[in-house]
Amino acid sequence: MRFDQPATTNPIDQGRVVGKPTPRIDGPLKTTGTAPYAYEHHGATAKPAIGYVIGAGIAKGRVAAMDLVAARKAPGVLAIVTAQNAGKLGKGKMNTAKLLGGPQVDHYHQALAVVVAETFEQARAAAALVNIRYETAKGRFDLAEQKAHAQLPKDNGFSGAPESRVGDFDASFAKAPVQLDASYTTPDQGHAMMEPHATLAAWNGRNLTVWTANQMIDWAVGDLALTLGMDKKNVRVVSPYVGGGFGGKLFLRADVLLAALGARAAKRPVKIALQRPLMFNNTTHRPATLQRIRLGADKDGKLTAISHENWSGDLPGGGPETAVNQTRLLYAAPHRYTANRLAVLDLPEGNAMRAPGEAPGMMALEVAMDEMAEKLGLDPIAFRLLNDTLVDPEKPQRPFTQRRLADCFKLGAEKFGWSKRNAKPAQQRDGRWLVGQGVAAAFRNNLLMKSKARVRIEADGRAVVETDMTDIGTGSYTVIAQTAAEVLGLALDRVVVRLGDSSFPASCGSGGQWGGNNACAGVYAACMKLRALVAQKAGLGEGAEFAGGEVRGGGQAQPLAKFAGLVAEDGIEYGDIANRAQQSTFGAHFVEVGVDAFTGEIRVRRMLAVCAAGRILNPIAARSQVIGAMTMGVGAALMEELQVDKRRGFFVNHDLAGYEVPVHADIPHQDVIFLDEVDPSSSPMKAKGVGELGICGVGAAVANAIYHATGVRVREYPITLEKLL
Ligand code: MOS
Repeated sequence: MRFDQPATTNPIDQGRVVGKPTPRIDGPLKTTGTAPYAYEHHGATAKPAIGYVIGAGIAKGRVAAMDLVAARKAPGVLAIVTAQNAGKLGKGKMNTAKLLGGPQVDHYHQALAVVVAETFEQARAAAALVNIRYETAKGRFDLAEQKAHAQLPKDNGFSGAPESRVGDFDASFAKAPVQLDASYTTPDQGHAMMEPHATLAAWNGRNLTVWTANQMIDWAVGDLALTLGMDKKNVRVVSPYVGGGFGGKLFLRADVLLAALGARAAKRPVKIALQRPLMFNNTTHRPATLQRIRLGADKDGKLTAISHENWSGDLPGGGPETAVNQTRLLYAAPHRYTANRLAVLDLPEGNAMRAPGEAPGMMALEVAMDEMAEKLGLDPIAFRLLNDTLVDPEKPQRPFTQRRLADCFKLGAEKFGWSKRNAKPAQQRDGRWLVGQGVAAAFRNNLLMKSKARVRIEADGRAVVETDMTDIGTGSYTVIAQTAAEVLGLALDRVVVRLGDSSFPASCGSGGQWGGNNACAGVYAACMKLRALVAQKAGLGEGAEFAGGEVRGGGQAQPLAKFAGLVAEDGIEYGDIANRAQQSTFGAHFVEVGVDAFTGEIRVRRMLAVCAAGRILNPIAARSQVIGAMTMGVGAALMEELQVDKRRGFFVNHDLAGYEVPVHADIPHQDVIFLDEVDPSSSPMKAKGVGELGICGVGAAVANAIYHATGVRVREYPITLEKLL
């Protein structure tokens, strides 16, 4: 099904199942421990051997010698695979550095070998006997130091233009009566999901199957085939449950490749879970940013000039953290300049983490907006509303399909009690706590991705939906079941959903908050095709009605079971609808903090998010996404930081003891309100993403609340207490 025009009325609008608060259908499997995650698969017929990955002990240089003699003789060892004996390997499209390094070492903990043994303990013990001698080369590990060498990267097609210019920023800023010029930093961050990267690989002749944890099945198949020099059709990737991804599992990683290579060498299925201390440096992370924002306004608060520049780093051939992209779209001003610059760093590979670009970008922009509001003597909400726009500020002929940012602020202000706030900072006290309230806009784009599915009617009249879509804890199973139930006129429990297997039609996968809308749109297309097949078989025309497990028309009702075996495969693909109008999601975050007047300890006391994100397919799942994202935003504001060892080039705190994320005790009651909205331009579902919208702006709202509580403005995240003293 091609989607070119805004959707008209369709079966989803019935709202019988879609849009209803629905507990996740896979919940019982998860709470009873019976949902098989990657490491728990028993799909292979032979007992799997275990692989233990050895990561490079230097950040840059080469392996001069690798002595495997002692390890080979160790008990239980079946094989050791290194770049020397692995045979010729290609590189996937999505990976920057090789997944199996050597002799050249590109980054710390780049995999150099996998030891395969009968048990985990034997593999680990043997790995400790591998003796590697390195020749160390000088690396570039300090972003601030490399900033001067940063360049505008090539336009890679998905990061947006490296630079954008409208009007004459410099001249306009120079003559603006009110100016702000401020710099902000955000640190490297790790996904730190619960489930490690893990894979069970098994060969059957020339065919390879991997049971793994991956957000994007079709990308994984493609990159695994490229890396191993295989035909895509000989590679099967299975990932029905994923224990958290946050972008860290968008791409093929070392566990998959090394399990496949290990299994080939050991002639046995091989299982690998990356040990936690390896994950932070071996896989990807969100790159640190240095950002400079300049705002010029006239005296009554209208912005005349906006500039946002960002510097981030990555390995040679990598990409930028696109922290300025939301600034191209968020506020009006006639004169504008933005740029994402990229330095070369020899740290581990940077890549997407929840709301890549926007999450750190909003942490700077929305603090700058707070600072500017104060300079102007305006309320921070009033200042934002004054500079709201209903068209793309860089291309004024392009409207937004929906943009209810102002409604989010107004409703949020009312619910949060914003009018009771004392405008002056450091005025509110509750015992030993300095209390402050902060606000920030939330903004994240809505991306359209093609997505396919297959739907079949079973003998008992149930519908089975198959698509390689993944559920990374987001609720994909449930919204897909809701979609099929709605379109086919079935009860929710009459739909069986099978996900995460490359033998199913290729979906959009889970990333960029595009999963829910696009995967369901693909399922919608397949179900509509199935309806047409059923109607035809039933001798009915377009007027056929699907309800109560029956197809009705011509004065007759026929049970769907009568059409058992009918199967339809279709998907959604998009014309240029996203070019004609800008599709984005909006929100407002409100945060109240307390700061201990004596110790500087920061506690979040209240949080509210108001979101406008098209049709909300399942308010329970959507709320869970947003409160999870708000929690992650608190982590970004107050705790999360990969500490760079700038001499040796690695992230020091590479475990969950040293890499801090919020726990329950850090998070108060969180409120989430969704505006009642549909966006006919997004897909037949009229839905958009919320999973990443929820984090965008949270960090800034926390920072603004801390400023309001204390009068101390911190521009370097995370805002740890010593920065307030
Ligand atoms: Mo997301 S960072 O695209 O999984």
